[in-house]
Amino acid sequence: MKATSIAPSNIAFIKYWGKKDEILRLPENGSISMNLSNLLTTTTVEFNHTYKSDSITINGIQEPNDGNRAIKHLDRIRKLASLSQKAKVVTINNFPSSTGLSSSSSGFAALTLAGTKAAGLELSEKELSILARQGSGSACRSIPDGFVEWLDGDTSESSYARSLYPTDYWVIADVVAIVSEGKKDISSAEGQKLVNSSPFFSVRRSHMAEKIKKMKEILKEKNFRDFGELLEAEALELHAIMLTSTPSLIYWTPGTFKIMKLVKKWRTEGLSVYFTINTGQDIHLICEKKNIKKIVVKLKDIKEVKNIIVNYPTIGARLNPNHLF
Ligand code: PMV
Repeated sequence: MKATSIAPSNIAFIKYWGKKDEILRLPENGSISMNLSNLLTTTTVEFNHTYKSDSITINGIQEPNDGNRAIKHLDRIRKLASLSQKAKVVTINNFPSSTGLSSSSSGFAALTLAGTKAAGLELSEKELSILARQGSGSACRSIPDGFVEWLDGDTSESSYARSLYPTDYWVIADVVAIVSEGKKDISSAEGQKLVNSSPFFSVRRSHMAEKIKKMKEILKEKNFRDFGELLEAEALELHAIMLTSTPSLIYWTPGTFKIMKLVKKWRTEGLSVYFTINTGQDIHLICEKKNIKKIVVKLKDIKEVKNIIVNYPTIGARLNPNHLF
């Protein structure tokens, strides 16, 4: 059987960085995110007895099978469905991968939904989130709709994401500035393994539960200024951990840094906008809908900005009738 799914990437306002269980991908702390309407992965999966081996094609390029994380994920799905057939997987991202836009979150969420459906499984949202988490942690947050919390569970069963608010709860935007399409040299999966080498990680760990609580209170009140201040401080704290890991992780490029400084300047001029950054050089500018145009105009003037993608909160992974093959 064949199935196709479309899943959004998500941007975390409170981030996941570090695992308390490497195999199950149980994070050190809970996290809070929003699904992004214009950073999408479409994936078609077909299991068939005529296939001799798995094949994974991403944006027209066939991936090597050795140590392939998508194939490991297909194995999880096969185990759940008691299936031995090999699969053909074709994936298209409508945005660059490995530059800080979390293609692994949309990618593993889409693979989880399309793969389980193609294998004849009917999983609940919670079950899909638990399974997606094992492919890539942040992928569990791309399963439910809108504004999402990944719960800080100590077991596989209790570590999943659920929707806090639907897509239309708060019309804010994530204006993504793509500053270069070059790939980062260290993946998040690899970078995270260094987390305990930062002397500041124990401090971070000790206040994460409090931060999650604070962010949930702010989301309830929809106070944009408090929201922006907290999410930007959180991004900088995450990068402080990365910068002070051994070896250090430096994901910013001159373009990233230039925009960080400009965002702070624009705020002093009365424009309410805050930044957040994942593992990569691209930078996410969070604003209210009324300020999108002004921000886009300013970004267009910056020579390092190669592309701008405006995102609104959107629904999580969904099935789609249009197969890619
Ligand atoms: O799920 P991964 O392995 O791509 O890690 C995601 C890490 C961050 O994007 C930096 C933070 C987050 O919570 O999305």
